[in-house]
Amino acid sequence: MLIYYLIFLFSFLLILFTGAATFLLLWSIGTYLIVRVPYAPTPKIVAGEIIKAAEISPGQTVYDLGCGDGRILFLAEKMGARTVGYELSLWAYLQAKIICRIKKSKTKIFCKNFLKDDISEADVIFCFLLGRVIEDIGTKIKSSARPGTKIISYTFQFPGWQPYKIIQTSRAKTYFYRI
Ligand SMILES: C[S@@+](CC[C@H](N)C(=O)[O-])C[C@H]1O[C@@H](n2cnc3c(N)ncnc32)[C@H](O)[C@@H]1O
Repeated sequence: MLIYYLIFLFSFLLILFTGAATFLLLWSIGTYLIVRVPYAPTPKIVAGEIIKAAEISPGQTVYDLGCGDGRILFLAEKMGARTVGYELSLWAYLQAKIICRIKKSKTKIFCKNFLKDDISEADVIFCFLLGRVIEDIGTKIKSSARPGTKIISYTFQFPGWQPYKIIQTSRAKTYFYRI
């Protein structure tokens, strides 16, 4: 009797884990096909360098469009900022939510497409994006971000925009713009 019970339990767990793994895999493939930007976190040392150069004032609202595990936002929150992130990759989103809970952070993280949401509350927008997505978000920022909003882009430039500051971090350049 016990052996049947164990076989049933083993089969149940196997189905559960393969189901969850397949779901995560399909979601990741689907997300990549839609967003065309892989999840690649900004190295922690670089994130620190960028936040230092960002000169964030307490009370400012900082957005990370495609926030990964939220590392930039958690550093910005330490500077007294209100922080908001968007992330479509389920794996990265779940990591961000868990870290958020562990750190007892007030950061809001949405599993949503930032191209379809209102970003006009931001004082500072950080992104690490490329290709068509950076062009699309550039158009959206130009049409909906408030004048004076600071835009920070790690590694990739917004095509046709003039940065007011460029810093060389320990890995790659970071571009600072003003709307
Ligand atoms: C290169 S990673 C950067 C992660 C994080 N910002 C960092 O610096 O550590 C870019 C992230 O943007 C997310 N992304 C791309 N397009 C998106 C969209 N339209 N809406 C939400 N997230 C998006 C991707 O899933 C990916 O995880």
